[in-house]
Amino acid sequence: MNRVYIKTYGCQMNERDSEAVASLLTDRGYSIVPDEHQADVVLLNTCAVRDQAEQKAIGKTGHLAKRKRKDPNFVIGVMGCMAQNRGEELVDRLPDLDLLVGTQKFHRVPEMLDQIIARQKALGPKPSTLIDLASEEGSEETIRDHTEGERQVSAFVSIMQGCNMHCTFCIVPKTRGPERYRSMDSICAEIEELVSKGTREVTLLGQIVNSYGMRQIPFVGGKSPFVQLLERINAIDGLERIRFTSPHPRGFQRDLVEAYGELPKLMPYVHLPLQSGSDRILKAMRRPYTVRRFREIVTQLREVQPEICFSTDIIVGFPGETDEDFAMTRDLFDEIGFDMAFIFKYSPRSGTPSAEEMVDDVPQAVKEARNQELLDILGKHSLRRNQAMQGTIQEVLVEQPARKGEGKFLGRTPGNRKVIFSASERLIGELVPVQITDTSVTTLLGELVLQHV
Ligand code: SAH
Ligand code: F3S
Repeated sequence: MNRVYIKTYGCQMNERDSEAVASLLTDRGYSIVPDEHQADVVLLNTCAVRDQAEQKAIGKTGHLAKRKRKDPNFVIGVMGCMAQNRGEELVDRLPDLDLLVGTQKFHRVPEMLDQIIARQKALGPKPSTLIDLASEEGSEETIRDHTEGERQVSAFVSIMQGCNMHCTFCIVPKTRGPERYRSMDSICAEIEELVSKGTREVTLLGQIVNSYGMRQIPFVGGKSPFVQLLERINAIDGLERIRFTSPHPRGFQRDLVEAYGELPKLMPYVHLPLQSGSDRILKAMRRPYTVRRFREIVTQLREVQPEICFSTDIIVGFPGETDEDFAMTRDLFDEIGFDMAFIFKYSPRSGTPSAEEMVDDVPQAVKEARNQELLDILGKHSLRRNQAMQGTIQEVLVEQPARKGEGKFLGRTPGNRKVIFSASERLIGELVPVQITDTSVTTLLGELVLQHV
């Protein structure tokens, strides 16, 4: 009994946490399987940011519980943000859970599974849940291991955990706790090891990456700890590309803007969460910047790096958002011309200030309509940008075989657009010139430009 399937909900940080758990489990003799039907253990790594994400995972657990009733040795675990957010109340609701693990305890999963399985062997299946939701000093250093075997041309690297902000809508400070930073040495060692196994691109992950090391690592020559970290990573031989997500507009200072002009490996793509284009709403959200400041950052970055692409997060239908507030968001969204955006309908999260102190007064239909309006603008910009790329030659990092199409491979442009083109296995991990020949909604199609050697 040692085949585990991990299903991940939510953001890239959750994906990264799942990968670290998978790696630890493999080291412990478990095997990771790609399909829940082949598994004896199913672990759900959950998200709590919106109600819908929680409901999905709860529904899934209920579904798995049916299987457990037929096969009592089947093990079900819930990990991550929803586990942390709902705590033991989840076990009352889902009594079939064997395992409930919080966001600072991912590294304990193998040992806890061992215990559950040993107990089942000794005593037979007996309903009881092993729970660990405590905080743990140093746990930020445990999201370190990557799955062996498969080469990851592009890899996620967690540089910190938690968030010290208090955006009124957000559950993350509760589920992830306060900011904790990994050491630069340990991050760089992890990246060097990845590079030695074929990684060419890293995406640094954290809730607010540009607060990395704040008040712990001193500024050097006016440079923040995050920019110092970027400089060190930029110097790693064999690494070609650096990305990160997400920076916060508040700490987007001149040193980080300038890094885009100075560090050749830093890719011209920034995910900069805006949330709203109305200063009044930003204030109610407790987002400590103004529209003017956001626009200024975008302008500065475009001056330093004219090719730069932007993506963002927007919430529509925050309590009190009027037609005028939304019109400001829409106009700014159109003006900036984001390359990509994640648009969310406000979802009250119990325990957050906006859920406790404000009324969710924007009707669902209005949220839907505002959401759609922004999606239409995004589609318009995306089409325009795709068309402008037609015929151009892009430097593409070849990542993996494409899901569809014999001999087709998937890569990305510096601006993070996916490109599909014919290539060969030996080009995986290489930077190649690709001419863009055609476009679909989200993907570019291209042809390898033959180089004369
Ligand atoms: N610090 C992270 C944000 C994590 S939450 C980052 O910068 O990437 C990811 C996004 O979910 C937020 O930026 C916000 O747009 C959205 N979100 C968070 N709480 C929400 C809520 N209660 N309702 C709707 N969307 C929400
Ligand atoms: Fe959430 Fe705001 Fe932090 S969106 S993760 S509280 S920056």
